[in-house]
Amino acid sequence: MIQTVPTHPFEGQKPGTSGLRKKVTVFQQPNYSENFIQSVFDVARPEAGATLVIGGDGRFHNRTVIQQAIRMAAANGYGRVLVGGGGILSTPAASHVIRKYGATGGLILSASHNPGGPNADFGIKYNVANGGPAPEGVTEAVYARTQEIDRWLTVDAPDIDLDTLGTTQVGGMTVEVIDPVADYAELMESLFDFAAIRQAVAGGFTMAFDAMSAVTGPYATEILENRLGFAKGTVRNGVPLEDFGGHHPDPNMVHAKELFDLMIGPDAPDFGAASDGDGDRNLIVGRGRFVTPSDSLAMLAANAHLAPGYTDGLKGIARSMPTSAAADRVAEALGVACYETPTGWKFFGNLLDAGMATICGEESAGTGSDHVREKDGLWAVLLWLNILAVRKIGVDALAREHWARFGRNYYARHDYEGIATAGADALMAELKASLGALPGKTFGPLAAAAADSFSYTDPVDGSVSTNQGIRVLFEGGSRVVFRLSGTGTQGATLRVYLERFEPADGRIDEETPAMLAGLIAAAEAIAGIARHTGRTAPDVIT
Ligand code: G1P
Ligand code: ZN
Repeated sequence: MIQTVPTHPFEGQKPGTSGLRKKVTVFQQPNYSENFIQSVFDVARPEAGATLVIGGDGRFHNRTVIQQAIRMAAANGYGRVLVGGGGILSTPAASHVIRKYGATGGLILSASHNPGGPNADFGIKYNVANGGPAPEGVTEAVYARTQEIDRWLTVDAPDIDLDTLGTTQVGGMTVEVIDPVADYAELMESLFDFAAIRQAVAGGFTMAFDAMSAVTGPYATEILENRLGFAKGTVRNGVPLEDFGGHHPDPNMVHAKELFDLMIGPDAPDFGAASDGDGDRNLIVGRGRFVTPSDSLAMLAANAHLAPGYTDGLKGIARSMPTSAAADRVAEALGVACYETPTGWKFFGNLLDAGMATICGEESAGTGSDHVREKDGLWAVLLWLNILAVRKIGVDALAREHWARFGRNYYARHDYEGIATAGADALMAELKASLGALPGKTFGPLAAAAADSFSYTDPVDGSVSTNQGIRVLFEGGSRVVFRLSGTGTQGATLRVYLERFEPADGRIDEETPAMLAGLIAAAEAIAGIARHTGRTAPDVIT
């Protein structure tokens, strides 16, 4: 069945590698979702009989788009659709299912950590056969196609029952409703020492996991409570809700406040963790000890060999540029390369595919490895549990031991959200123009040693990405980075990344805000944040 639509009906931001994100009401317009999905299929050109994976984070509108996509897949020549039961597949689980079953790609329906509900956000992202987000060439082609599309294909078939596992026919295509958790849980069990974790739990080790009423609930309940033996109730907010209970499913100190309060309070369990809307980000907090994502990457890398999936050691480590250099010191000690990439997970994909890196991470709470081609929240939680169980040590003790060996990178990110684009652009332009004059300048006790605008040459495909943020490096290894967000939806968002390095024999046991005060003043002096943005304080500190 062919639905003709007027040409150029698709108004959208250019969908990037994190897919198309819009308000639900935008996706609800006639032909809107269909045109995007058809454009993906027109670009993907599946071979007859190809397999497509479909699933989402359970937010409002998920089921509607899944039913549309199934009918359209049948009309576009796919032979088989694997769809998560209840319409659920976390982003890392979808990546795994695509790889495991040799699918040509997958549609992941999510707007990550953005709020959900009839008046909130929705998103569609296309991942390719390696399980990772479609590369830029594909997303550009999809966007171009949306500008000229004049028809979409569908079959006349009723909705399938998403809540019963099993096989149905839609047109000539087979639809399998699969257990969304089973394949992923099996993968985790192959990577980690579940017996050691179970033993720790039996010995009294406790944890709290906040699924934030988003997609990781069923995964965490099955893995942590059913397979690892943590007490019932360990997983909080474990049922995915269409509006995430009205919260932002963003695992930071602001939105996961309850978990934070618990972890610094008198009744704290040994370990606390949370994940975001679609399950790719993670928050790690020990009893009385928050672990920055940058530190988490370094600590995981230093101890990964204790997990069965990584006993052979790491091929390399990759971190995004604004992520602290803590991982670099671990890479040096391990004798492996550390790659510094632009912000965004897509740059890690090439390194993982080429076997150059095993573990990667971003300061924005994304950590992962070569087991899938997405960042993976629960994976990070399980690697932490594996390490703590084998080493019979707590989070705070492990962190202190790490700093005493490698030194400590005090770290914070200051976000100035929804600022005027003109002011943000002027700030970055002035900053760029002043870079040459920075080295040698002093800001209180800090002396600038080097400054540049970060550009990256991909060691695998040779592609060059320029203007990826301004780095100002100080004598002794401290640093300030300035960058404009690429994912904000209103105005511009300025991110200022502050990092103070203290060597192993330095001041490694202090409070972060006090340790960063000098860098905050230097950042203001260097960039004129107040002058350009009209703001004297950041909106969010993470
Ligand atoms: C943000 C994060 C970045 C992450 C991206 C997608 O991008 O900072 O690390 O890869 O979301 O989840 P930004 O808004 O900074 O461009
Ligand atoms: Zn996410």
